[in-house]
Amino acid sequence: MNVTLVVCRGTPGDAPREERWTVPFEPGQSVLDALRWIRSHRDATLAIRYSCTNANTCKECMVRIDGKTAYACTARLHEGTMRIEPLPNKRLVRDLVTEIAPPNERLSGV
Ligand code: FES
Repeated sequence: MNVTLVVCRGTPGDAPREERWTVPFEPGQSVLDALRWIRSHRDATLAIRYSCTNANTCKECMVRIDGKTAYACTARLHEGTMRIEPLPNKRLVRDLVTEIAPPNERLSGV
């Protein structure tokens, strides 16, 4: 089975662009699994962030999946096309990475 991921990418100040990848998968795999596959097999420059991979404890993998905010590590892939975007209400760092740390927990000057 395959899924097509449409990923919204970009950097602050640049117009966002969409890139499409067809990713092989088996039922039960997560969106994060697909994003990691893309980085390993298609484009190592895709910016994503995660720490715990599937424990849903770090909260660092939050993105928009088909228009809804979700954790990429717990959202399941499905056949067809899925659209992945960075969080719209957070400052964009690059691609799917946004600034999610509370202001009082950030390093000064960042
Ligand atoms: S990778 Fe940690 S919550 Fe998703």
